Amino acid sequence: MLPISHKQRLNIERLVDRDRDNKDNGNDVIEGLTKNQKSLPPRYFYDDRGSQLFEKICQLPEYYPTRTETAILEQYAGEIANLTGVCELVELGSGSSTKTRLLLNAYSNLGSRLRYIPIDISEGILAESAKNLLIDYSNLEIDGLVGTYSQALKRLLPSKTSRMVFFLGSSLGNFNPEACDRVFAEIKAALKSGDYFLLGVDLQKPLDILEAAYNDSQGVTAAFNLNILEHLNWKYRGNFDLNNFKHDAFYNVDCSQIEMHLISLRSHSVSLKALNLNVNFQKEETILTEISRKFDLDLMRKYFQDRGFKVIQSRTDSNQWFGLILARVP
Ligand code: AVI
Repeated sequence: MLPISHKQRLNIERLVDRDRDNKDNGNDVIEGLTKNQKSLPPRYFYDDRGSQLFEKICQLPEYYPTRTETAILEQYAGEIANLTGVCELVELGSGSSTKTRLLLNAYSNLGSRLRYIPIDISEGILAESAKNLLIDYSNLEIDGLVGTYSQALKRLLPSKTSRMVFFLGSSLGNFNPEACDRVFAEIKAALKSGDYFLLGVDLQKPLDILEAAYNDSQGVTAAFNLNILEHLNWKYRGNFDLNNFKHDAFYNVDCSQIEMHLISLRSHSVSLKALNLNVNFQKEETILTEISRKFDLDLMRKYFQDRGFKVIQSRTDSNQWFGLILARVP
């Protein structure tokens, strides 16, 4: 149990139901599994087990993005806080909020109470990390939102202070270009003039480094990929047999993106009873479960400008593997 004072500083609102509701009716699964190239929305990775597996991925030796972005934040969080001044902090895809601590430390040094709004699809991990943060930061008030980015950004109330939305870990890379445009528009709509957007992006680099990051030697990424089927089994009363699928990940040079697939090892069919859906798989047929786009920093800065943001700072690590861009709404 948390002490009363912690409870008063924590509020979590659930925008997406654990079970089916009107907004979360599995239409995206039906749509994905009935296309020619079958696909699944990556948001289904993140049930509680998927979120835990992702945390493990972030600590793998091959998975460079987390430690590289962390090192950039360690170096520049103070600079970012000084550039923006006191802000309400809104984090998209907060997960375990590990890197967030670097920003919270920097903003705590500005000396005032701090409002932090973590947004995540997984209630378990959001609630757990929020409680831990409250123990460590006595100046913090947390208003978490459990839901999709789109749901949560629309739910944000106008802020009296400046606001900074931050989106770390290159999660933007998991969106295709159209979805990326949509998220940018939704973020912009949640900001007013003088507010900020801080974005972490994974940059293009040699193929062997990229592919190793998604084919780790311990098989954690493979387990993460396969877990999406377990999640669908639970959520939509499915009968995916994980032994019928194998993890695959490769870099698609033309599209500058890692693609993660699940390859069907034999011809078979699967049903998702709650969706009234039967799906046939040929041997070798794949489900595209995730793209992870790798960006060019100059093009990304231009992308910000074209969408009405003013880039005020961008930083990378010494290898230029990862970039952090701070932009303001003029
Ligand atoms: C969350 N996202 C940025 C990760 C990525 O690298 O695209 C998800 C991931 N998938 C496999 N490994 C990590």
